Amino acid sequence: MKTHTPSFRERGGRAVSALLLALATACGDSSSSLPLERPQPAAFQPSQVSSQVALASGSGFADQTGGGVFISTTGQAVRLRLDGSRALLESHPGNTVAPGTARAAFRLGPRTALVETETGLFLADNGWLIAPPWRDALGPGTVATAQSADGAVWLAHASGLFRLNAGQLSALKVDGAALEGITELAAAPAEDGAPGVWMLRGGAPYVAVATGATAYQVRPAVIPLGEKETLVSIAGLTASKDQGAELWALTSERLLRRKDGEWRRVEFVDRPVQLLGAGRFLWVKSSDQLLVYDADADTWGVATGVDTREFRFLAADESGCAWAQLGAESMAISRAPVPRVLGLNQGMRVVEDGLVIRAIPPVGESPVVLFRIGGAEIAAQAPEYSLGGLEKDGSLKPFSFAILEPGMHSLEVVARFLSGTETRRTVHFDFQPAVPLAVGWEKDILPIFQARCAKCHTTQPGRPLTTYELWKENVDLITAAVRDQRMPADGPLDPQLIALIQRWAASGTQP
Ligand code: HEC
Repeated sequence: MKTHTPSFRERGGRAVSALLLALATACGDSSSSLPLERPQPAAFQPSQVSSQVALASGSGFADQTGGGVFISTTGQAVRLRLDGSRALLESHPGNTVAPGTARAAFRLGPRTALVETETGLFLADNGWLIAPPWRDALGPGTVATAQSADGAVWLAHASGLFRLNAGQLSALKVDGAALEGITELAAAPAEDGAPGVWMLRGGAPYVAVATGATAYQVRPAVIPLGEKETLVSIAGLTASKDQGAELWALTSERLLRRKDGEWRRVEFVDRPVQLLGAGRFLWVKSSDQLLVYDADADTWGVATGVDTREFRFLAADESGCAWAQLGAESMAISRAPVPRVLGLNQGMRVVEDGLVIRAIPPVGESPVVLFRIGGAEIAAQAPEYSLGGLEKDGSLKPFSFAILEPGMHSLEVVARFLSGTETRRTVHFDFQPAVPLAVGWEKDILPIFQARCAKCHTTQPGRPLTTYELWKENVDLITAAVRDQRMPADGPLDPQLIALIQRWAASGTQP
C-alpha cells in the first residue's frame, strides 16, 4: 500500500503537493451570452462492423489500429479485431492472481487497455492480461482514465485520483485527503492554456495543472452554465498540426465547446444525451440521432440507418471509429472505412528520425494506398503498405523524417477506391529529433532496464532480460515492443528512452 502515503510522492521520494482552492461557485445564467453554433450535419451511411461477441454496456477500449478490448455479457475481458472477430486474450501464466469476472476496460496507453476485474486491475497487452506491480494499491472502483499531454495516465477511482507516470503510481491528495467522487476525466488545456486534466467531481468542474516538475494544483474551474443547467459529461480532443486541443462539455441542455480559450454553445434540434471524444473526433448521441464531429475537416455528420433507441457508447478510437451497444448487438461504427496506421500513434512525440510505418487498407475492393507527409506523396506497395519500402533483404525500411522541421506534423494515409472515392486517416505527431550519440548497453540501456523492465523481466512474468546477451538475443522483439508502446506493460516509456533503445539496436547493439 505504499502509494497510500498521506502526501503525493513520486519516484525518488519527492513530496508532491496538490492544492485545492476555495470553491468558487458560478451562479446565474452565464451561458446565454456565449457565441452560438448551430451545425447542419451532413447525412452519411456509416460503415458498421458487428462484434461477433455479445458485449456488455459500460466502458471499453478502442485501439486506433483497429479492434479493442471490451467486456462480454458473460463477464469476460475480450479482445476484438477490426473485423469484429475475437482474438486471444489470456491471463499471463506469470500472474499470481486470476482475473475472474471482468467489469470494465479503459484506455491506458495508445495500444494498451486497463481491465478491471473482481480481483483488481490488469493490463491488456498484445493478447495477455498482465497483473501490474502497482495493482495492490487499487482495488476495484476505476471510474475513468485520461492521458495528459506529458504522456502520464490519470486514473479516477472510487478511492481517489491517481497518476501513473513512468510505471509509478501516485495518489493525488489535498491536505492528506483523497480526491474522491470524480465521475469524468478529460485531457484539455486549462483556462490559462497550460496542459491540464479536467474532471467532474460531484457534478462540478475542476482542472489539474502542473505547477512544478512533480507538483499539481487541482482547482475549481468554470464551465459557463445557464440557470438550472447541469453538467453531464466532458470530453477532450487532441491538438492537430494547425489547431489547439479542445474541451467539450455535455450539459442537461446542450453542448459547450472550449477552443482557443473561448467557450461556445453548440445546439442541435435534438438535445444531446451522450458524448465521447477520441483524437480529433467527437461522437454525440442526441435523443434520436448519432452525430460525429471531425475537428480536422470542421464538419458534422449524422449517421443514417442506425437504430439509436437502445444505444450506448462503449469506446471510440483516434481513427474516427466508435464502438457502441445497440440493443442486443454491438458494433464498430465509422463514417467510412479508413486505412489504419501501425508504428505511429495520434499525438505521438517522435524523437527518432527513422520509424517503420505501415498502413492497413480497409477491407473490401483493394484500394490504392498513398502516404502524404511533409508535402510529398508516396504510393504504398501491397502487401506491406510500408512508408519506407523494403530493404534489399526484404525487411521493412524505416521512413526517414530527416526532411521535416521539428514541430507538429501530420501523416495522411489515403485509400483511393476504384469508384474514385477516397477515405483517409490523419495522424498528427510531434517531431522532436534528438541529437545522435554513441549508445552502449551498460551505460544507457541497463539503467532503463532497471527502472522500467526489471520488475517483470528478471524471473517472471516476463522473459528474463537481465543481461547484455539476453538483450542482444531479443533485440528485434524489444525494439518492436517499445516502438509500438506495448512495453513496458505498466505504462508508456519516455519517447527519448524509446529512441535510445532504437538507436542502440540500429548502431550495432554495443555492450
Ligand atoms: C508490468 C510488467 C512488465 C513490464 C514493466 C515490462 N514488461 Fe515486457 N512483458 C511482460 C509480460 C508479462 C510479457 C509476456 C511474456 C513474455 O513474452 O516475456 C512481456 C513481453 C515482453 C517482450 C516479448 C515480446 C512481446 O512483444 O510481447 C519483450 C521484448 C518485452 N516484454 C520487453 C520489455 C521491455 C524492454 C521492458 C522495459 C522497457 C518491459 N518489457 C517492461 C511484462 C512486463
